[in-house]
Formats: sequence, structure tokens, C-alpha cells
Amino acid sequence: MKDIEFSVIILAAGKGTRMKSPLPKVLHPVAGMPMIFRAIETVKEAGAVEVRVIVGFKEQLVRQVVEPTGAICFKQEVQNGTAKAVQSANPDSMKGTVLILNGDHPLLTADDVKGLIQKHVQASNDLSVVSCELDDGKSFGRIVRHHGQLRAIVEAKDASKETLKINEVNTGVYITDAELLSEYLPLISCHNVQGEYYFTDIVSLCQEKGQKVDALIGSSRVAFGVNDQKELAMATKEIFKKKANELLESGVIVIDPDNTYVEDDVEVGEGSILYPGVYLKEKTKIGKFCIIEPNAFIQSSEVDDGVEIKAGTYLTKCKIGKKSVVGPYAHVRPDTVIGEETKIGNFVELKKVKFGDRSKAGHLTYLGDAIIGEDTNIGCGTITCNYAADRKKYVTKIGNNVFVGSDTQFVAPIEVGDNAIIGSGSTITKDVPEKALAVARGKQFIKENYNPKK
Ligand code: UD1
Ligand code: MG
Repeated sequence: MKDIEFSVIILAAGKGTRMKSPLPKVLHPVAGMPMIFRAIETVKEAGAVEVRVIVGFKEQLVRQVVEPTGAICFKQEVQNGTAKAVQSANPDSMKGTVLILNGDHPLLTADDVKGLIQKHVQASNDLSVVSCELDDGKSFGRIVRHHGQLRAIVEAKDASKETLKINEVNTGVYITDAELLSEYLPLISCHNVQGEYYFTDIVSLCQEKGQKVDALIGSSRVAFGVNDQKELAMATKEIFKKKANELLESGVIVIDPDNTYVEDDVEVGEGSILYPGVYLKEKTKIGKFCIIEPNAFIQSSEVDDGVEIKAGTYLTKCKIGKKSVVGPYAHVRPDTVIGEETKIGNFVELKKVKFGDRSKAGHLTYLGDAIIGEDTNIGCGTITCNYAADRKKYVTKIGNNVFVGSDTQFVAPIEVGDNAIIGSGSTITKDVPEKALAVARGKQFIKENYNPKK
């Protein structure tokens, strides 16, 4: 079947009182991405020609996430119900098929959306409501049928005990066309327990006027709405689990899929092992045959093939070359590029460093604003003193095949030539030529029989 053109209205103006959080509900992240961002990306992937998002509560914050996606924001001045929210999208200026979606359903997929739109068109409905059967209908609107025919949606708060027993609920996804919205939205009133204009009342209004209204059965995943922190945590868990399963299917060894946290836009190569507690964020790329040990946190970084990231390591915006070993407990900060077959050991921090192939910094070291050559050894406890009293940062350049003894400080700006040797315990304040030995420390002094008590 050929793709059907459709526009989308996403409702995201509500506060989300049940979240008990100062952040608007739709900005809460689910596996690293705000719920509203997920909703927009999903409908775009499904082929939406236009996306209109209704904003209201803390609208400036919501706009910051929505506008860069290309979706257009429409303001609902008073958050007095979902019908008024849809009306704020100005459906008079839309045409053709319109999908309406609550902004708090982060598990909805592009395939769900495509499938539902096709069903709506095939059934020639004027209005489709996506419903689903749940064991516990909780706070969902109930689908009320008469002789099997959809009659109305009754909100849980307005429902009688009998109505609350109905298992078929409204998922908050609707498909109709723009003209129907223009005609029926102004007829919705607010005579209900909450005094709100319910979009769901459009169902009974359309029924009365003889429009073809029906419920399309969706999966419980479509129905999954986030209204409180518990549901947010459940949605996050679900999305991480789905990603872990995709990785398993692609040949990644995930030791405990329930405790591995890989965001959607992360890539991991086949044959790599992810230990429990690993967190991979924001477009991180892990190559093939890597080992990522427990509790490594890696954000916006590129890790090449055969790299070992040992336990407790924290990487942000950096690149690690092939077959290197990093950690345990290393901290590699932005703008650091580490070469191939290097070793960055425990309690080593690097910031804005170019670190050459086969070089090593094995223990307890800080390198900042530094360029380190190839085959160089940085001894334990080395510090680049990059931040000067004038509050400016200066560069340390260390050549190829340099041996830096333990407990050395380089007071930048400074340059050390190739093949130089730095004696342990030195504070280097002047450039060191190539092949030279530099020692800059107090001389050892011995006074025999000094202790009067012994
Ligand atoms: C709504 C439905 C309910 C359905 C459920 C599915 C109504 C009246 N009820 O209830 O039948 O089972 O979703 O999850 O529609 N919003 C606005 N402006 C407002 C009010 C809400 O934009 O004035 C937005 C919210 O930001 C949210 C969405 O609409 O994204 C749904 O609002 P929410 O309060 O969560 O509705 P539910 O009580 O879940
Ligand atoms: Mg809701």
C-alpha cells in the first residue's frame, strides 16, 4: 500500500502534576532523550509532512527541545483540557489526514504509527481512536461500546464503578481529518468532574452526527503513557532493554541485558563485550572486539576496534585509537584524541590532549592542554601545570620516545624534544632539547649521626 500523507498534532502543554517535578512532563528524558523529542522523531520517521506541537506550561523550555527538530510550536494559553489543546493547533489551517498524539507515550514506534494510519484509511473511518485492552485500566479513559459499536470515551474520573470495569481503554492516539476537527472541536463543552474540555468527547459528538467512528486496536506498548516517575522509570527500562536486545541480535556480547544502558543513537561493533552497569550515551561509537568493563560511562566518544575500557572509566567527547587500554578509573575529558596501542592507567585524567601511538601514562597523572608524541612513557604522578596565575591555559609539548620519570611537573608553556629523559621528581620550567637529560629537584643532603635520641 502506498504511503499516506498525514500531519501530526502532539499535545505537550500540560504540567504533568503527577510527575511532582519542576520540569514539564514531556521534557523528562527517557533513556537520554526527552519524551517530546522521541514523539516528534517517531512521527517524522513514520513520514509526517508537518508536526505541530502544543506548548503551554514552561513553554520556553519546551520550545528549546521542539524547535530544533523542525516541528512548529503552538501555544495553549490556559491548560484547560486536551480539546482546547488540539484547537490551539489551529486545525482550520490544516488539511487531510491528521494524527493526534499525547506527548507522554514514549514507547510508540514509527511502525506503530504507519500501521495505524493504514488501518484508519482502509476502514474509511472519519475518526479512529486507538484503543487497547489492559488488565487494569487505571486512569485511562474507558472505551464504551453499545452492541459492539463505539459510543463514547469516559474519563476514569467521571466513570461509574461499572464503567471502570471496562478493560478497553483509550491510548490517547487518534486519527481523523482536519475538516472534522474544525467542525466538532468548537462543540466540546467542559461539563465534567475536572471542568476541562476533553478531546475524547469528540467521539460521542461524531457518533450522534452519524460520522463513522471506530476504535483501532493497538498494542499495550502504544497505550503506555507516562504520568508519574514510576511510569517514567518503566519506560526508560523498556527502551534500554529493547536496545540491549538489538545489540545481542547484531552480535554484541551483553552480559546482563537488564543492567546495560545504551542509548538509541549509540553504535557497538560485533564481538564487543558490554559488562553490567555500562552506560553509553549520545552518539558514542564503539568498534569491534572491544571490552567495556563494569560501570564505564562513555558519552559522545569514538572508541576504535579492540580497545579495552576498564571498570569505572569516564569518557566524554574523546577518541580512543585501536587496541588501547584505558582505566580502570581513568577520566578522559573533551577534545582528547588518544592514538593506537596506548595505555592510560588508573587515576589518569586527560583534558584536551593529543596522545601519540604506543605511549603510556600508567598511573595517577594529569595531562591538560598537552601534545604527547609516540612511544613516550609518562611516569606515575606526572602533572602538566597548564593553568597559570594569569588565568590562562598553556600548552605542554612532549616529543617522541621521551621518558618522563615519576612525579614530574611540567610548568607550561614548555616543550620537550624527542628522546629526552626527565629525572624523577623534577619541576620542569625550561624547554628540554632532544636527547637531553633534565633533572630539576633539590639535591639529597645527608647529615651523619643526626638523631640525638639514638
Ligand atoms: C488522556 C485521555 C485519556 C487517555 C489518556 C491516555 C483526555 C481527556 N483523556 O488522559 O482518555 O486514556 O490520555 O494516556 O484526553 N495536555 C495539553 N493541554 C491540556 C491538558 C493536557 O496539552 O490542557 C497534554 C499533556 O501535556 C499530555 C497530554 O495532553 O501530553 C495528555 O494529558 P494527560 O493529563 O496526561 O491526560 P490523561 O489524564 O493521561
Ligand atoms: Mg497521560
